Amino acid sequence: MIEADLAVTGISELATPEGTRARVGADLGRLRLIHDAAIAVSSGRIVFVGTQAEYREAVQLTADAVEVDAEGGTVLPGFIDAHTHLPFAGWREQEFDERLRGATYSEIAARGGGILSTVERTRAVSRETLAETVRGRLDDLLALGTTTVEAKSGYGLSLEDELKQLRALGAAAAGHPVEVVRTFLGAHTVPVEYRGRRDDYVDLLIDEILPAVAADGLAEYADAFVDQHAFTIEDARRVLSAARERGLGVRLHADQLADDGAALLAAELGAASADHLEYISDAGVEALARAGTCGVLLPAATFFLMMDVAPPGRKLIDAGVPVVVATDFNPGSCPADSMSAALWFACLTARMTVDEAITASTLNAAHALGRADSIGSIEPGKRADFVVHAVPNRYHLVYRFGRPRIGKVVAGGKLVVPGPRAVAG
Ligand code: NIG
Ligand code: FE
Repeated sequence: MIEADLAVTGISELATPEGTRARVGADLGRLRLIHDAAIAVSSGRIVFVGTQAEYREAVQLTADAVEVDAEGGTVLPGFIDAHTHLPFAGWREQEFDERLRGATYSEIAARGGGILSTVERTRAVSRETLAETVRGRLDDLLALGTTTVEAKSGYGLSLEDELKQLRALGAAAAGHPVEVVRTFLGAHTVPVEYRGRRDDYVDLLIDEILPAVAADGLAEYADAFVDQHAFTIEDARRVLSAARERGLGVRLHADQLADDGAALLAAELGAASADHLEYISDAGVEALARAGTCGVLLPAATFFLMMDVAPPGRKLIDAGVPVVVATDFNPGSCPADSMSAALWFACLTARMTVDEAITASTLNAAHALGRADSIGSIEPGKRADFVVHAVPNRYHLVYRFGRPRIGKVVAGGKLVVPGPRAVAG
């Protein structure tokens, strides 16, 4: 018999990708499906996945085991949000209103709004205040079914304030059920005090900030924003090469507002991911596929920026790029933190199927964060991170778009969101 200290029964449909690597092409949408399913967990790890009949034969609960009734819900792996800008202060609803009146994101950035206005407000708060804000956001994420989140700095843009953001993330994550993967995004934009001196700022990043981040182990990855209002390909190559030399993995904000050739750079650097990609060239698509660099689509941001292009879901999938879907949660281009919303837009604008979107937001996202051996699917041996959605099958997650329907959340083998609701209809 398999001993378990937590079990979930009453699952109408369990849907999970399988394996310890990202899935590509036709395999992206291949899920394991079990109806009338059960899951058993011991010491935070999954020890059994199967039908309820098999469960009754195979699993023995410990005396103090937690028994969870999924009440006919659908169970998926916990969402893994592989791209957010979590540690920021203040919102930018006024700019949103300006955009609704016709201003563009680039115009607002060019006059010192946009990212720079969030930098000003993030610099003004203490590390403790920022950590408290982040902690509240992690609570929200958990309630939305996100069990692992990547989080970038990039609203500090000075030695002190970049370290403050990364340390606030560390403090907020300590003891929290949501796992946080930190990324250093000092190359987000050029801060006001370096206006007209971009090269000097890149030097500061490479000579001072990056060494401090690496020395204190404050980030696993470095990222850069290639754009006409931010950094050139050459700047990004310098910063990210330096990061790689210091043992950090690399990611890149690539081809979001124009074809800058940034996906090519991501492939050249062997980046873990190239993100956004609305304007990626055919050569960029091929290069990502060849390098095995994940293409992270942020379809809720594409939608929120009212862009004329759709995220290139089908193009990337057909070319064999490991596709990931994430939110881009930030106060400018995606104030939505819900992975359910990212899935709606992945299907309805990037033309992915529900099954593809599920893999892209779980196993492939885990791969993009270097964690596919331990999270991203519901299989024995993996960490017990999964969500009971209060719907009878997986299609309802997108079909009935408009609000997430999270029932219960298990993270690290603990029932962290007990959830009051049974399946409605
Ligand atoms: O991923 N592209 C650049 N950075 C963010 C936006 C951040 C902001 O507007 O504050 C993004 O869209
Ligand atoms: Fe981003």
